[in-house]
Amino acid sequence: MRKPLIAGNWKLNKGGKDALELSRRIKEGIGDILNVDVLICPPFTALAEVHEVTRDSPVKLGAQDCFYEMNGAYTGEISPLFLLDVGCEYVILGHSERRKYFAETGDIIGMKLRAAIGVGLYTILCVGEKSEERESGGAYDVVKTQLGGSLSDIPDDYIRKITIAYEPVWAIGTGKTCDPDVANEMHQFIREWTGKRFGYKIAEEMRILYGGSIKPENISSLIEKEHIDGGLVGGASLKAESFLEIIRTASEKNKLTTDKHG
Ligand code: 13P
Repeated sequence: MRKPLIAGNWKLNKGGKDALELSRRIKEGIGDILNVDVLICPPFTALAEVHEVTRDSPVKLGAQDCFYEMNGAYTGEISPLFLLDVGCEYVILGHSERRKYFAETGDIIGMKLRAAIGVGLYTILCVGEKSEERESGGAYDVVKTQLGGSLSDIPDDYIRKITIAYEPVWAIGTGKTCDPDVANEMHQFIREWTGKRFGYKIAEEMRILYGGSIKPENISSLIEKEHIDGGLVGGASLKAESFLEIIRTASEKNKLTTDKHG
């Protein structure tokens, strides 16, 4: 029913020739794995060249952000239309690092979602609480506010182009993975919220990814959970071998749990 998606967020890494090498190795390494969708999100400067590698292959291409205007006097910004031009199908929006370092708010992220989906891109909307919010028992409220802040004004049919990634901030780049049961509960909460807002049928079909210190050693215990439909991988996506191992494990698990993913 929900085909897993394993996405690599390269962040501010592999902007030049390294991007070509890594994307080539990923493309060659996935071989005949077709029961998992694979996405890589290099920096803007590498997108066009990486597209030459991934085109006509199952590896999908995405960007890590975009602006909410199509054209105009917005120095330094990237239009969703430019992403289409260089072969992107996806864009990540609202990553916690964008919220933290670039002061992105729910409103801004909502505008970006509308702009990106409006031109036909698939989007990955990131949400997740900080450690002090988790410790004080506020994780669900934070995620609910983030969902409401970006999705309240989204046209109903746009939800088909949205994947949500639950990325607890305290698990990103720290080596501390969220307990799979704790993550699954949050995913279930996100699905329930989406169901109430957009309808339960579409919420059932929507993929919800986990992100935060995913490694080859922990992907299995995460992806076997009912509501975890894949991963948004940072550090471990920068080495072909670890990213491919994560993909292979997701593929194996998918074969074993056909009741979950159909
Ligand atoms: P790490 O896998 O490096 O923890 O990063 C997760 C992330 O932020 C993906 O978007």
